[in-house]
Amino acid sequence: MITATALAHPNIAFIKYWGNRDNALRLPVNGSISMNLDGLFTRTTVSFNSTKRDSLSINKQEVTGKGLDRVSYILDLVRKMANINERAEVTSENNFPAGAGIASSAAAFAALALASSRAAGLTLSEAQLSVLARRGSGSASRSIPAGFVEWQMGKDEADSYAFSIAPADHWNLVDCVAIVSSSHKKTGSTEGHAIAGTSPLQNARVTDAPRRIEICRNAILKKDFEAFANIIEHDSDIMHSVMMTSNPPLMYWQSATVEIFHQVREWRASGLPVGYTVDAGANVHVICLGDSAKEVEKRLRKIPGVSDVLVAGVGGAAKVV
Ligand code: PMV
Repeated sequence: MITATALAHPNIAFIKYWGNRDNALRLPVNGSISMNLDGLFTRTTVSFNSTKRDSLSINKQEVTGKGLDRVSYILDLVRKMANINERAEVTSENNFPAGAGIASSAAAFAALALASSRAAGLTLSEAQLSVLARRGSGSASRSIPAGFVEWQMGKDEADSYAFSIAPADHWNLVDCVAIVSSSHKKTGSTEGHAIAGTSPLQNARVTDAPRRIEICRNAILKKDFEAFANIIEHDSDIMHSVMMTSNPPLMYWQSATVEIFHQVREWRASGLPVGYTVDAGANVHVICLGDSAKEVEKRLRKIPGVSDVLVAGVGGAAKVV
């Protein structure tokens, strides 16, 4: 086969990845946990043919420069594995806004890893696909397996991959993403990872990560929402403390971001099962039990500064379509 199309979901991290021990290989300084976001996806088609160079279009817009280089880097790894020289045409579409605090790069590189390896005639294992996706964007490693996913930091390159800890139907969690800013973030995560070590708090964050991972994994497996909400908020706050104290400092939050934190904690104290987490952006992922999603969405929409709310359940694995 010379053409293949794959679909992958973005994911939201509950225990965050922030900082690499090897930036080129995207080997993380700590493990992380996430869930895939159902309903949101990137669909990517890769065709190896006789064109002179790789080409990339995202949402029908031609992409060149750094964006294309990052894709060619993955295609080069695939060409090497498959022992082929053909250049590729890559067309990709997202059904959610890029740069809006939903990691579009995670879905993008997961779909690219699957589509390009299949188009090149390779049938990689889930772990190998996760490793390949990781080389494009660390969090993309977690968009390969289904449902609730853990990315082990691993001992080396081949060992740093993600696997499912529970299928999508294990627990009916819903992510209500409160959009407070849809502008493209100023500092992307690749640059952020590179300066994470300049924060004096990063060492403490990393040293304590195995404890947080264990608590989060157990809370998911036991469906203990209270423990889950407490650990995801704690982990998100720790990562943002590192971001704010790095050099240069990264402040992703807007005032509406902080207002949502206060509201979510009040709602939880009064019995609504909700917790918040924020990636490298201003938008707040408010995680709740499925039964409460309508109520949470309604309340979020009333908060000044919230322009929209995206709602997503737990998503499946990346797949060939
Ligand atoms: O995969 P990257 O390089 O876009 O980094 C993702 C970083 C966070 O979204 C902030 C945390 C995470 O684990 O997804």
